[in-house]
This record gives sequence, C-alpha cells and structure tokens, in this order.
Amino acid sequence: MARQLALPLHATLPSTGLVLQLDEQGLALRDTRPGAPGAVRADFSQLARRRAGSLRSEAVARAVGLRGNQPLTVIDATAGLGRDACVLACLGAQVHLIERSPAVAALLRDALERAGQDPALAAAAARMRLHHGDALELLPRLAVDSGAQAIYLDPMYPEDGTKGQVKKDMQLLRSLLGPQDDVEPLLGLALNCPVRRVVVKRPRRAAPLAGHRPSHSIAGRSTRFDVYVLPQR
Ligand SMILES: C[S@@+](CC[C@H](N)C(=O)[O-])C[C@H]1O[C@@H](n2cnc3c(N)ncnc32)[C@H](O)[C@@H]1O
Repeated sequence: MARQLALPLHATLPSTGLVLQLDEQGLALRDTRPGAPGAVRADFSQLARRRAGSLRSEAVARAVGLRGNQPLTVIDATAGLGRDACVLACLGAQVHLIERSPAVAALLRDALERAGQDPALAAAAARMRLHHGDALELLPRLAVDSGAQAIYLDPMYPEDGTKGQVKKDMQLLRSLLGPQDDVEPLLGLALNCPVRRVVVKRPRRAAPLAGHRPSHSIAGRSTRFDVYVLPQR
C-alpha cells in the first residue's frame, strides 16, 4: 500500500504529522503531533446497524430523492469518508463514490473491504462502488454509464458548525487536503450531466454555491441541502 500511494513506510509512528496507520481495526488517518485530534477512519459498522426509519430521516436521503423501495442510483462525487454514501446504500440506493485524494480513497477501500466481510453490512457494501480519481474528469462518463438519477456534492466548507466526531473527522481531512476551492466548476459540470437532480450540501446559512439558486432546499440543524431539479432531456 505504501508503494502504491508513494508514501514512506515506517515501522514505528513518526511524531511529525499525518500518517496512515494500519492496525487490526483497519486503516486510519492519524495526526501524530501533540494535541492533534485522534485517529479517523472510514467505518460503516455503526451506521449500517441503525434502523431504516432513523436512516430515512436523514435529510440527505430525502434530498437525493430516495422514496420507499424505488430503485435509485446516485453518484457521490465528493465521497470523503463515505458516511453519506453509506446512509444511501443502507437505504437501498446504488452509490458510486468518487474520491480524488489517494489517502482518503485508501480509507474508503479499507472500509468497504471490512464491510464486505460483515454479514450486517455486506449487502449495503455491495451497493457501493469506489472510483478513485477527480470527479471533474470522471463525472461526465460515469453519469452516462451508470444511468444515475442524482449527483451529490458535499464539498469541504472552510469551517463547519458540526460537532463531535464529525467535526474531528473534517478537521483532520482539512489538514490532509488543504483548501478545496475548485467546487464551483464541479457544480457546473454536474448540472450538465443527464441526471434528474443535483444536490449540494452547504452550511445552513451560506449562500448557494456559485450563486446558482436551487429549485428547493432541505434545511437541517447546521446544514442545508440545495436541490437542483433538472429538466429532462
Ligand atoms: C467534506 S468531504 C465529503 C464528506 C462525505 N460526504 C462524508 O459523508 O464522509 C469532501 C471530499 O470530497 C473530495 N473531493 C473534493 N473535490 C473532489 C473532486 N473534484 N473529485 C473527487 N473528490 C473530490 C475531497 O478529497 C474530500 O475527501
């Protein structure tokens, strides 16, 4: 894995910054500097054990258009640690996850492998397919080939109002990935794909991305999902 990711391999933890650490629980991203938040991993085990009713109440499910048992294919073009993708897959959606960071894609691959071996998770894991690469390059082709009905974008926002574990995860991702300022072209590209809707997750009070007014929004406590319903072509 170190060779594949072109990273130096250490037998003991260096104290100088971000490392990917492989142990018996799987792969984790860890900041080894004093005072840094602890390790973060992609892990679907808790989410997949939640009741369907509680998952269904997640705003992301309504925003992408998941209804009852109707089949739905979604492209999560900014997959991150895969939490949102996992909610959708647990509810029965087929989800294509695009992640451009090699380290984050490695965390996702590890989580998907572990999930595939867990009887409670295997069915949801089989509905998630990881694509490592830049959505700006992969999205147009994937949108056609997958026949997806929805594209979901959850760009990293500079500072989010979320709490606890989610906040710690995002803090660590932010120090790994640096500023992410190319999301506006991604929205432009998504809006030109042959899908029924594009959904963008935003901080609750932020302006719509790139000034594009959504068709409607679904607001949660700290976040908002802007839904762009596209004309059928
Ligand atoms: C805020 S995180 C997404 C969190 C995710 N929704 C979750 O539930 O864990 C944003 C992720 O999008 C990825 N990303 C940003 N721009 C991208 C692009 N053009 N192509 C693929 N991935 C991208 C970043 O590397 C980062 O991992």
